[in-house]
Amino acid sequence: VVERTFSIVKPDAVRRDLIGTIYQRFEAAGLKVVAAKMLHLDQAKAEGFYAEHEGREFYEPLVKFMTSGPIMVQVLEGENAIAKNREIMGKTNFEEAAPGTIRADFASSVRENCVHGSDSPESASREINYFFTPDEVCAR
Ligand code: CMP
Repeated sequence: VVERTFSIVKPDAVRRDLIGTIYQRFEAAGLKVVAAKMLHLDQAKAEGFYAEHEGREFYEPLVKFMTSGPIMVQVLEGENAIAKNREIMGKTNFEEAAPGTIRADFASSVRENCVHGSDSPESASREINYFFTPDEVCAR
């Protein structure tokens, strides 16, 4: 079934000029970019996005990292897009990520792990709406 998922190229990957490399991985996996923009998160927007992690020991440094530079946010569309994107990203901890995944190849720490991807249809819908208005998502 064709789904949409929400994805972020995080500040570490933008700083290292990995936007094109990562978009190539999406497209090679059959994930079409149907919306995209670059933005620099402020504290409130980052805190809201990661609200479910509030109180965890990694929350504050995570918000600091995510506001440290511009990010790319995108909506990806394709067959099983949510699971497919998580598969090509690899596990959160890059040391456990399968060879050939984005995180195994490019992440530098558990926090600075290059990409985010929605983990369920509910998160995908919440996250897409957190960053995009309906008219910003293109039919293709
Ligand atoms: P992501 O899965 O996109 O969303 C939560 C983020 O928090 C995760 O990517 C990492 O960037 C970060 N994160 C999760 N667990 C840890 C951890 N144990 N230590 C540091 N950062 C973490």
